[in-house]
Amino acid sequence: MAALFNKISLFCYLVAFCISCNYNTEEITYAEHIAPIVNVHCVGCHQPNEGGPFNLISYNDLAKRSKMIAHVTKIKFMPPWLADPNYSQFANQNILSEEQIKLFQLWHKQGAKLGDTSKHKIKPIVLRKNNKNYLELDIEPVFIKGNHGDNFFYIKVPIEIPQDSFVRMVEFIPGKPKLVHHVNGHLILLPLDDTSNIFNTRRIVDIHSPDFEKHIEEMGLYINPFEKRIHSAVNYLPGVRGFLYPQGIGGYPLSKKAYFVLKDIHYGPSEKDQIDSSKLRIYFGSKPPERPILETMLGTNGISKINPLLLVEAGKIQKFTTKAFIPEDISILTINPHMHLLGKSFKAYAVKPNGDTIPLVYIPKWDFRWQYYYTFKKMLKIPKGSTIFVEAIYDNTTQNPNNPNKPPKNIAERMLFGGSSMRTSDEMLQFIISYLPYQEGDENTSLQ
Ligand code: HEC
Repeated sequence: MAALFNKISLFCYLVAFCISCNYNTEEITYAEHIAPIVNVHCVGCHQPNEGGPFNLISYNDLAKRSKMIAHVTKIKFMPPWLADPNYSQFANQNILSEEQIKLFQLWHKQGAKLGDTSKHKIKPIVLRKNNKNYLELDIEPVFIKGNHGDNFFYIKVPIEIPQDSFVRMVEFIPGKPKLVHHVNGHLILLPLDDTSNIFNTRRIVDIHSPDFEKHIEEMGLYINPFEKRIHSAVNYLPGVRGFLYPQGIGGYPLSKKAYFVLKDIHYGPSEKDQIDSSKLRIYFGSKPPERPILETMLGTNGISKINPLLLVEAGKIQKFTTKAFIPEDISILTINPHMHLLGKSFKAYAVKPNGDTIPLVYIPKWDFRWQYYYTFKKMLKIPKGSTIFVEAIYDNTTQNPNNPNKPPKNIAERMLFGGSSMRTSDEMLQFIISYLPYQEGDENTSLQ
């Protein structure tokens, strides 16, 4: 047995040695090795009018930053992707292989060479194009103080159209892409007989404002039993705009009078005062979706209780769980784990009636800045009678660099005290699932 192990480990060693010796002797160049990786994994964000802080388009863009690039790829800070690919895989994932990471290291070490561009033709980079088939709404301009701090706002974006209609997708178009970090917005549909002037209310509130609660009320954002609310109607992260599902799936109705609520729109730190004027682009559909997407939410404001109550004690690392029973066969499209600044890790899975586990998502190292909507490669069937479990760990110690309180304070879900709105410095635990009632063959339907 021991001899067999020795042989296996010798073999592994030789394979590993050969892979590295190959690259160590081979010349790694931009033209042959680096450009093809960057064009797929980096340029989506590192181009003009996108969220990356600089372009990574030309050889020079990369060569002068080869050291920093070698570093951020090695520590897996870039490309940003929090979900563990060994646990579950997604259509929109952006992950470098170990071999690609190694190529960045070697390229830098060998002096970031251009290489032979006549032999290795560099494919022209395709920048994001706009088609013009949308309605554009201006969002209230936001004043960002140059105080090096993160800023969070609630913004209301009213819309009135001549008749009820259907929307396939809404995109958030940042005015200052280097500044806007993430956006998640609901759509609120007002009843036909609504007589209010939706353009006549306050549109924006800073969540740190002392009058936050009052302003939220003035904006009409407290949940109203007569309205219809479509969660996550618009989402944005650097590099991530709308996601279009296959034809016939997704989209939602838009009533004559409605408004979007961009909740917790997050602006990163700025050193100088700036004004951001962002927009929403609404893409209409010609007919109602055959299969409208449904959404459910576990945890805060959702269908399931958090256990124990979400109160994260100062100085402690604590685990909270929530679970929900699935009464019908469903096909999951997209999931969104949500916590705030004290989040440490997040795991969700389903357990089938026969006891088998279906992994959903595992985020070993939470970072509130990358609130992804994770879309499965194919629709994921969860059979009737399954239970979805969520396990979230929060770190309210001084070891957590994002802890807003130094020294740490007890932090609770605002709901516990009868509030209804969420500040980023409060905590939340949510797991949002968008799904369809299951149809035969869904598990083979690609979402890519
Ligand atoms: C989803 C969008 C996105 C993708 C994809 C992406 N980046 Fe970035 N990158 C950003 C943003 C946003 C920042 C600024 C982050 C911050 O300051 O927290 C950034 C910062 C950086 C930085 C500066 C880090 C620092 O400490 O200042 C480097 C270098 C970088 N990216 C390289 C890359 C490379 C190389 C790739 C591809 C392998 C890549 N990025 C892919 C959005 C992206």
